[in-house]
Amino acid sequence: MNRGFNKTCTLEDFSDPELVAIIRDVFAHESAVFPDLPKGREFRKHWEIGMAVASFREFGALRPDAELLGVGVGTEPTMYWLTNHVRRVFATDLYAGAGDWTDTAPPWMLTNPGRDWPNVWNRRRLVVQHMNALELEYEDNSFDGIFSCSSLEHFGSRSDVRRALDEMFRVLKPGGVLAISTEFRLEGNRTGLPGTLLFDEADIQQIMLGSRSWDLATPLSLAVSDETLAGAVSFEEAIEDSRLGRIWSRYPHIVLRFGEHLWTSVHLTLVKR
Ligand SMILES: C[S@@+](CC[C@H](N)C(=O)[O-])C[C@H]1O[C@@H](n2cnc3c(N)ncnc32)[C@H](O)[C@@H]1O
Repeated sequence: MNRGFNKTCTLEDFSDPELVAIIRDVFAHESAVFPDLPKGREFRKHWEIGMAVASFREFGALRPDAELLGVGVGTEPTMYWLTNHVRRVFATDLYAGAGDWTDTAPPWMLTNPGRDWPNVWNRRRLVVQHMNALELEYEDNSFDGIFSCSSLEHFGSRSDVRRALDEMFRVLKPGGVLAISTEFRLEGNRTGLPGTLLFDEADIQQIMLGSRSWDLATPLSLAVSDETLAGAVSFEEAIEDSRLGRIWSRYPHIVLRFGEHLWTSVHLTLVKR
């Protein structure tokens, strides 16, 4: 496939037939209301989830006997969809005391995880656990695949993120697939935003890949087209939309700007040797 599995989010990806089909399937409740989804509603969160599913499928982790782990997953749709396709999904986050994150990692996930999920899923295949990403409570070589979307950047310092990646590497089986999405800095200084790290290519090489024995599944492609950049959304506007609990007031919702910082999502697919 031309698109590859290690790349920044671009507007063009929302016309990729495989990603379109996955997004429409995972978000079946939205497709029912917006028949052209994702056209006209290009949102990087949909892309992140689509890329995780596509990575698992392409590199052999989407199969009936697979056990998958989600890290910092909150109420993310990925976990529910995966229960229809694999043996078991372990969903972890700071559910029992998420501090600032109570909205995204609510305690009711521990007792009634299907509360708000509208589509078909399999309750018997989902295990929800309170767990710190920096200290995964599993044996070495436990999982066929690990996914984490929009979470790494909130784990603390870069050294905390390195530790979380060490943990993910440790619990991934040889041949297993890591599918992660996080923030990629297009402009601005390395400090990032309060509570949110914005990564660059050096971080990808040094922190995400590191010297662990895993490899990028396809070459890294960090270019972002002018068409994608032209639709940059102001972070203040996105925060206001979230505060009012409404859907985005504009699309595409792929690149964000706040002060000197400009960023989007990057997805990485690594396969453990
Ligand atoms: C922006 S939310 C994303 C949630 C989910 N992945 C999604 O895409 O909807 C970031 C998540 O990271 C979780 N998180 C932050 N620090 C964590 C840690 N040390 N261990 C596990 N989860 C953490 C938060 O609780 C929150 O649910």
